[in-house]
Amino acid sequence: MDKKLTEKQIQWYPGHMFKSFREIKEKLKLMDMVMILLDARLPLSSMNPEILKTVKHKPILLLFNKMDLADPQILNKHMSYYQSLGYEGLKIDAQSQINTKKIYDRAKLVLKEKLDREKAKGLKPRPIRTMILGIPNVGKSTLINALSQKKATKTGNKPGVTKAQQWIKLGDDFELLDTPGVLWPKFEDKKVGYHLAITGAIKDDIIPIDDVCHYALDFLKANYPKRLLERYDIPLDMYDYVSMLDQIGLKRGALLKGNEIDYDRVYHTILTDIRNKQLGGLSFDSI
Ligand code: G4P
Repeated sequence: MDKKLTEKQIQWYPGHMFKSFREIKEKLKLMDMVMILLDARLPLSSMNPEILKTVKHKPILLLFNKMDLADPQILNKHMSYYQSLGYEGLKIDAQSQINTKKIYDRAKLVLKEKLDREKAKGLKPRPIRTMILGIPNVGKSTLINALSQKKATKTGNKPGVTKAQQWIKLGDDFELLDTPGVLWPKFEDKKVGYHLAITGAIKDDIIPIDDVCHYALDFLKANYPKRLLERYDIPLDMYDYVSMLDQIGLKRGALLKGNEIDYDRVYHTILTDIRNKQLGGLSFDSI
């Protein structure tokens, strides 16, 4: 498979990415720490490595969101990998608020030295100032709402800051700077592009849906063949892409007049099933 994306496919994002990195850099000095939200199904593809260079002087907490949709064993391996690089991490499900209450304690752990110094100076504890960064659709808004317990409220401008900054108070624990926090994915590697497309992080029209489904079915066949058997009755010895599409079409009744397979419906069925956990917890980045 072609490793490099076509010009058209990569051209859509560098402008956004450049602008958001510049914004993040500018705001960084106001932060105690940075939280990077990763997709638990693709902890590598959903990380833009440039961001780690940009924020390397700040304490970082990695949050592996959508743990409910991931393959738990593979997720644990990825978490150990990041831990071996020295990053503190926590797996969460922001939608059902699993582990979200543990975030504050983890953040305090990441900031321990600084908090101990402040305590020694007799300073009163104050909310942790942070940014939540993550690729589109990774669950930033969902997490912000979970942390604020109710709908996040904007606080006034902070004195002493040259440009007016909006801070959002998240419960008593955190103050979040009101920046978009969008981490643009980096996907010159076509595999990463496919992973982002399968999970819905990039819009369905960036990479042709037929290519995305071809990649997805080959991937599932190689890594989760029994799930394909259980969901669509795809025999374990069936590897041909079109035969697999036909089988899904027949099984799910995605047929046109004259009983021809409606491939558009089959593509959407595959992606919807993957995204809605109809094929069980899946992880796409290998480790
Ligand atoms: P963003 O701000 O980073 O762009 O993401 P946002 O919070 O809008 O979340 C994107 C989608 O992911 C939402 O679904 C949201 O409900 C879902 N989501 C967020 N966190 C989790 C999680 O931990 N587990 C699961 N399974 N889903 C999560 P949506 O389809 O846009 O809307 P809906 O499902 O809420 O209707």
